[in-house]
Amino acid sequence: PFPKSFNLVFFGGAGDLVTRKLLPAMYQCHRTGRLVESGHIFCLDLLDLTQDAFLAMVDDRVRQFVPEGDWDDTAWGTFLSRLTYMKLDATQPEQYVPLKAALKRTPAEVTVFYLSTAPFLFATICSNLTRQGLNGPRSRVVLEKPLGHDLASSNAITADVDRFFHEKQVYRIDHYLGKESVQNLMALRFGNSLFEPLWRRMWISNVQITIAEDVGIGSRGGFYDKTGALRDMVQNHLLQLLCFVAMEPPASLDSDAIRNEKLKVLECLVPFTPEDVLTKTVRGQYRAGVVGGRQVKGYLEEGNIPPDSTTETFVAIKAEIANWRWAGVPFYLFTGKRLPTRLAEIVVHFHDVPHHIFPLPSSGSRAPSKLVIRLQPDEYIRLYLNAKAPGDSMELQPVSLDLDFAGKFKGRRRAEAYERLLLDTIRGNQALFVRQDELELAWRWVEPILNTWAADPSGPKPYAAGTWGPAASSELLSRDGFGWHDED
Ligand code: BG6
Repeated sequence: PFPKSFNLVFFGGAGDLVTRKLLPAMYQCHRTGRLVESGHIFCLDLLDLTQDAFLAMVDDRVRQFVPEGDWDDTAWGTFLSRLTYMKLDATQPEQYVPLKAALKRTPAEVTVFYLSTAPFLFATICSNLTRQGLNGPRSRVVLEKPLGHDLASSNAITADVDRFFHEKQVYRIDHYLGKESVQNLMALRFGNSLFEPLWRRMWISNVQITIAEDVGIGSRGGFYDKTGALRDMVQNHLLQLLCFVAMEPPASLDSDAIRNEKLKVLECLVPFTPEDVLTKTVRGQYRAGVVGGRQVKGYLEEGNIPPDSTTETFVAIKAEIANWRWAGVPFYLFTGKRLPTRLAEIVVHFHDVPHHIFPLPSSGSRAPSKLVIRLQPDEYIRLYLNAKAPGDSMELQPVSLDLDFAGKFKGRRRAEAYERLLLDTIRGNQALFVRQDELELAWRWVEPILNTWAADPSGPKPYAAGTWGPAASSELLSRDGFGWHDED
């Protein structure tokens, strides 16, 4: 049930994430009637802004990120009356006193503290909130990534927060879990009995999970160069998607029922030796090229990037899951910046038939069935099967059965990831948040890759912007007899 009243407090409240994603998401929740009337939003930041100047800034920013059709002046006006700006230096304990006083003026059943700040502030903020008595049984903290740089730093963050907040109060965001399409994966797998018997090594030859982006690193050079694609995308988003594809059916939608099953997948991921890293991973870095008809710079020419940077902007990995269901089935993970297009999808490839009675198609190769689950930008599920092409021969041709979500749910708005996630923090549902043990196992699996790369002088392989990454990534599959991105 939704609480009767809430206070939502954003640390880093004038920052990029809050004004680009979180406030637009809260506005959409407000406009569509999903918030209780007694819900207040506090934005805390270092900037010396009056309330009016803050509201003007928010007005300007949020309009850029809300689709025109969703703009409603009346709703916007009433939404603004929920907002309060307060100047606060999170490191100064005495500055929490006015915060406490302000929160007292709007007593609420639930208080959510959203730490949209650098992680080095997490412990200080949690400690100061606790000292002020703001950490009650119905207070929660939301943590934004990056949650660490490696296993040790991630564990240090966990330990810091853990000193003050119980795991049941901690909401670690992976915004991919808020996407409708990702939740639909559960519906597809566990709301239909059709796929489940086939969803295993006997019938599936390999799984490919891709998050491709056409954008570069934008103005985030300083952050990105210290991070790289493995930490930015694989450790969190790609591993979470892998868990949803590979996990056993949970007994219920209960937060821990789901997270226990995801954890088991992470426990079964085969760890990489340094030798494996060299043979089962590919890292790349984009050079100048053409994306969407436009000439773009190479990574090393972007702002705030050292000219000899070896940070990867592309990763391909062959992962394996050692359990009864998946032994021997490779899970190929791909992600990169400045690829030809923005696309996230999961492709489940089924084995070829055991015996061929039809002639080899004129294309020269057979096309075993595959299931394509497209997560973005469009959302569809497409099952490719072989059918007889019209004519005198028995030549087969792949054809698809299509389920297009936008078409099927016409007129129903598809929410942005942060809408669902913010509402869940308020109503206290942790199912779509990452539990501490998942986070730790994900880092544990990624760490040997980070270490081996750091010690390998060959560095990332260059690829031209606008291409599908270094050639070596296709070789990762072709060695196993598979292909990536076969034309649909
Ligand atoms: C973020 C990464 O977590 O996810 C970004 O830090 C990336 O680098 C973004 O661009 C991709 O998210 P989405 O929802 O646009 O696919």
